[in-house]
Amino acid sequence: MSNVAGMVSGMRVPFRSPDDLFDVQHLESTNPMSQFGEWFKQASETPGVEEPNAMSLATATKDGCPSVRMVLLKGFDENGFTFFTNYNSRKGQELAQNPVCALSFYWTPLKRQVRIEGCAEKISSAESEEYFHSRPRASQIGAIVSKQSSVIPNRGVLDDKYASLIEEFKDESKVIPMPEYWGGFLVRPKVIEFWQGQTNRVHDRIRFRRPRENGEEDPDCVHTGEGGWVFERLCP
Ligand SMILES: Cc1cc2nc3c(=O)[nH]c(=O)nc-3n(C[C@H](O)[C@H](O)[C@H](O)COP(=O)(O)O)c2cc1C
Repeated sequence: MSNVAGMVSGMRVPFRSPDDLFDVQHLESTNPMSQFGEWFKQASETPGVEEPNAMSLATATKDGCPSVRMVLLKGFDENGFTFFTNYNSRKGQELAQNPVCALSFYWTPLKRQVRIEGCAEKISSAESEEYFHSRPRASQIGAIVSKQSSVIPNRGVLDDKYASLIEEFKDESKVIPMPEYWGGFLVRPKVIEFWQGQTNRVHDRIRFRRPRENGEEDPDCVHTGEGGWVFERLCP
């Protein structure tokens, strides 16, 4: 154990970046969702990015105690970012008491990070149903088997329930009902930051946000993007 800990402090992984830099003129003619789309497409086409849609999701209780875990992005458009989960899970319960949350992506070969802050809301059960039934049957059964985040006495509880549901739904024409506690959340973004790592470690950061309100002026170095967004450059 101590050897491993020593290894960590000595780790020096070479940081080689494609060294792309943001083009402010291009950003002025776009908005953060289109920019995300461009980066997501490139990440999806880059060898070595195994799950481009894997993202960390941070939530917090109403008292501000945070928790974070990975989830899979299953859709995005101008309204925001969608993922699916069990509404009774820890994340589901935290989002019910405090919808403020954050997402982050990191695509290692491209040395690109995206950070999103916003508020989550449940999508309609019709939309959740549509996605639920598009999944492989084994995944649909998995959603029923797992009372996500609850404590169980042993692994056998899950294996037995899974086996009995596989038996119950072995007739492929039998529809597997979506549990009422399962569905999607849409995260409506308020802030989206794009981070482009640089080999020399002087990284490039651009943050999109809404203009300041209450008569407060934005500083001169703030640029105007599309769709009511503004953006600014941050120190790395
Ligand atoms: C790459 C990856 C993708 C995941 N995708 C999801 C997902 O889309 N939805 C989900 O509920 N859990 C997903 N999980 C599991 C979660 O990380 C987590 O263990 C689970 O949702 C319970 O979290 P909670 O107890 O904080 O609610 C994923 C885990 C990994 C490692």
